[in-house]
Order: sequence, then structure tokens, then C-alpha cells
Amino acid sequence: MALLSKQLLTVALLVAATCALASPFSQLSLVNSELDPYPALGKPRLSFKADGTFKVTIFSDLHFGENPWDDWGPKQDANSLKLMNAILPDEKPDYVVLNGDLITGENTFKENATALIDQIVGPLNAAGVPFSSTHGNHDNQRNITHYEEILREQQVAPLSYTRLAPKGVGGESGPGNYWVPVYKSASEESTPALILWFFDSRGGFAAVKDTNSTETTPVPDWVDESVTSWITEETARMETEWGPSEGRGALAFMHIPPHEIQAVQGSVDSDKNPGLNADTLGSGSVQSTSDQPFWNTLTTKIKNLHAIISGHDHGNEWCARENEKNVIFCFNKHSGYGGYGKAGWGYGVRNIIFSSPDPKVAPQTWIRLEAGETRAHVTLNDEYGR
Ligand SMILES: *[C@@H]1O[C@H](CO)[C@@H](O)[C@H](O)[C@H]1NC(C)=O
Ligand SMILES: *[C@@H]1O[C@H](CO)[C@@H](O)[C@H](O)[C@H]1NC(C)=O
Ligand SMILES: *[C@@H]1O[C@H](CO)[C@@H](O)[C@H](O)[C@H]1NC(C)=O
Repeated sequence: MALLSKQLLTVALLVAATCALASPFSQLSLVNSELDPYPALGKPRLSFKADGTFKVTIFSDLHFGENPWDDWGPKQDANSLKLMNAILPDEKPDYVVLNGDLITGENTFKENATALIDQIVGPLNAAGVPFSSTHGNHDNQRNITHYEEILREQQVAPLSYTRLAPKGVGGESGPGNYWVPVYKSASEESTPALILWFFDSRGGFAAVKDTNSTETTPVPDWVDESVTSWITEETARMETEWGPSEGRGALAFMHIPPHEIQAVQGSVDSDKNPGLNADTLGSGSVQSTSDQPFWNTLTTKIKNLHAIISGHDHGNEWCARENEKNVIFCFNKHSGYGGYGKAGWGYGVRNIIFSSPDPKVAPQTWIRLEAGETRAHVTLNDEYGR
């Protein structure tokens, strides 16, 4: 025992000495690894490929676990798994996002709700693709919470980058606020060129604590104000360690669209803003007006924000510019056979591809349907949606 701790102490001293004497580059990577939590979590560093590209594929509104009491529900999950297993080897994404409503929580059972997470991550584990999740209003219900889904995903998916926000950030039932850095290149010295931001727009219902009743209370359906100071602090830390924010690009994901997007729909034009526009946005389709502090901080503190991306409204696929803050918003594509839909809407994913780690180079995005058809190709540049 004593010998063991002496050996450990020697090793620790050697490591410390090596770090102190090493080149500025290893100093830098030491600093980097303090801000970047993933090395300590044992996750591989994400980077742009040698050809300068980086591709994100988004599955949204998978809605696993509908009607477990009949054949229809499990059949929808089998169809959704088939879709994931068809799309992943075709698209070969560098990163996958599950953008909320992974589970139809109101239909689940307390004792086995998280088993649905195991099913969902199956195709991602098999493909060996890094990914992370946001959570939706259907993921907060009496028998399941965002928190439980996150813990389960971390347990069963070695390449899950989903994290919990620090304590006190995210408000009631909204722990899923975190960011993921994507480095310029695989080289040890490179710094992040792209930050993927994930926010918890909450919603749904929460079980009433300390009772055995089936009573639930509604959960606020907006990103909590506590997230604003966290964004400010995190962007400041990134500036200190990685240089000015202008040197990095960003994408932001949250399940429920920000409130301001409701008004944007009025000027959506099928030529200029291609993609399905079949869900009229109203109360409940977007976050409540209480998302204003979050919206202001998101659109001012995060630089080179190429797009804000949400699901929730299964009949919408368009990307459009919000003129006041001058940011582009995009809907996902409904991916799950569960959840509401209409004949002809189809199922698929949104792809976003970066052609360069240069944060000024605009990414392209489009919808890909299950059988391979693509539509609504747009470039998320300064001219788009004006
Ligand atoms: C939650 O799980 C319990 C235990 O399995 C079950 O009795 C109940 O019907 C489930 N659903 C809801 C909404 O409470
Ligand atoms: C989950 O539990 C319920 C109730 O105990 C059961 O009817 C159902 O078959 C279970 N589902 C799975 C996937 O094991
Ligand atoms: C809830 O039910 C369990 C098991 O029946 C019981 O032990 C517990 O005291 C109950 N709690 C409340 C607050 O009623």
C-alpha cells in the first residue's frame, strides 16, 4: 500500500516535471485539456478531416416507445431503426445529433423507459459514430426525464458526447446544456474551429416529487435564463484559451424552436426557403416568450453562428433568416415513425456539411429522405434568406 502510493507520487512528480519543461505546444494542450472535458472522459478528439470537411447528420423526433401495449408501437420503432441503419452507412457522418423527442415518454413504464435509449443508440454504436443529444418535451414525462436519458446514454454509448450542465444551469428539468469542440485538424497543436452548442428547451411534464400519485406538473418550455450567464462564462473561457471567438464557427441545437421563429414563418417563401412548410407555428410550437434572455445571449455572444437548428414541428423543413438578430434558423427533418405526421411528409434527416475549417466559409445543408432522395439544398451564407 505504502509502496504503491510512493510509486504513484513518483509518477505524478515526473509528469509534472515533464509538463513544466516541455515545449509551448504541450503547455497549450495541457491548457486545452482543462477547458475541453472530453479527453478526461476518454472520448476521442473530434476534428475536420484531412480534406477539410466535416459532416453532421441530424436525426430528430425519433419518438421511440409509442403504444408499447399493441403491435403498432414496436413496429414504428423497428421502422425507425431501419431508417437509421439505412442512412448511417450511406451518409457516413463525422458526427450525429439526436435533436430531441427521442422517446414518447408519456407511453413509457417507469421500470424500463431507459431501455428505449439502448435501442436508439444501437445503430450509432454499430456505426462507431460520435454523437450527442438534445431532449424534448416528450422526453420529460412522469416515467422519464432528460436527466435519466442523459445518464443512460452515457452508460450505454461509448461515443456519446452528451453532457450535463454544471449544477444550477438549465433550470427545472433542463440539465442538457453543453458544447462540443471540433478541432481544425487531427494534429495535437490545432485548436477548435467549430463549437457545437446544445441547449435544453425543456417542456413536457414532471412527476410530483415524494408522492405515489400519478399527478404531474408542466415543465417550462423555454431555455432557462440561467443558461445565459453560463454561455457568457464559457465563451469567455474559450477566448482566454483558444483566442478570439471570431476564429471559431458555431452551430446551435435545441429541440423547441426559439419564440422569435414563429414570426419568421410569415415571410417563408417556397422558392427562397425550400423545404416542407406544413406546420403553422402557434403557441406550443415554439418556446414561450420567456426565452428572450437566452435568445439575446445566444445571438450576440456566440460568433459565426451558422445556424440554430430545431425539431418539434414535424411538418417543417425550411431554413430562414431572423432579420432582427441576423441569424439563420433551420428545422430538422422528422426521422422517427413515431410521433405525429401526415401522408407524404416522409421521414429522413438533415445533413450539414462544412467544406473548410475556416469559420467564414459557409456550410451547406439539405434534407435527405429515407430512400435517398434529397431536397431543400441551401448554403448558409450571408446572402441566404435575405
Ligand atoms: C408509468 O409507469 C408505471 C409503472 O410501470 C405505470 O403504472 C404507469 O401507467 C406509467 N405511465 C404513467 C403515465 O404514469
Ligand atoms: C416494459 O414494461 C412493461 C410493463 O411492465 C411491459 O408491458 C413491456 O413489455 C416492457 N417493455 C419492454 C421493451 O421490455
Ligand atoms: C409510496 O409507496 C411505497 C410502496 O408502496 C411506500 O413504501 C411509500 O411509503 C409511499 N410513499 C408515499 C409518500 O406515499
